[in-house]
Amino acid sequence: MDPLPHWDALYRTKNLTELSWQQSVATLSLALIQEFVSDRMAAVIDVGGGASPLVGGLLAADYKDLTVLDIAPNALARAQERLGAARAAQVVWLSADVCTAPLPPSRYDVWHDRAVFHFLTEPAARVSYIEQVRHAVRPGGLVLVATFSEDGPARCSGFPVARYSAAALHGEFGEDFALLRQLRELHHTPWGSSQPFTYCVCRYTPAAAP
Ligand SMILES: C[S@@+](CC[C@H](N)C(=O)[O-])C[C@H]1O[C@@H](n2cnc3c(N)ncnc32)[C@H](O)[C@@H]1O
Repeated sequence: MDPLPHWDALYRTKNLTELSWQQSVATLSLALIQEFVSDRMAAVIDVGGGASPLVGGLLAADYKDLTVLDIAPNALARAQERLGAARAAQVVWLSADVCTAPLPPSRYDVWHDRAVFHFLTEPAARVSYIEQVRHAVRPGGLVLVATFSEDGPARCSGFPVARYSAAALHGEFGEDFALLRQLRELHHTPWGSSQPFTYCVCRYTPAAAP
């Protein structure tokens, strides 16, 4: 299944309350970013950000340099609607595949991904994704990735997902990503079912600068 039209149609046809991953507040991501990166000028990218409330939370917390990337233009349109024109104008919006987007080198202090990496079930796609992280995150930057846990759902939105323990997720990234924190979160879907997530917070500390 071609992911772009699929995701784009979902965001065009569904209410946000019909999307299982949707949060009303991105509580854990916001708390982790504020704990590890206090500099409000830090460049933050939310990859596969969809219509997440994270960007609004970061704006409210006074972060100034925000980018949201998503494969689906309709996801970005929904996120912009949610913020309103004035706040949306303070954010850079990129409609692209995270694995191939032409991102600037060493640009970001924070790479945030909630519920995107787990869709990369092919090893080659994961390699491309991690190359993007190495390319776009400055050495010393924070990489926060959240996926379904090993006991989480096997599919999401019609796609199979790869599920991870913290050790397995960190293992995908390797030794150049120093694990600072691992967490488990029980996400409650808008209709009240539970989905366990694994969060890994890492510092990108490449042995040799890219
Ligand atoms: C399960 S949703 C999570 C959205 C958001 N991160 C959140 O936590 O609310 C997955 C998102 O990733 C986007 N997506 C899927 N594959 C992608 C890819 N290869 N590159 C960029 N975005 C992608 C989808 O359009 C969708 O918005």
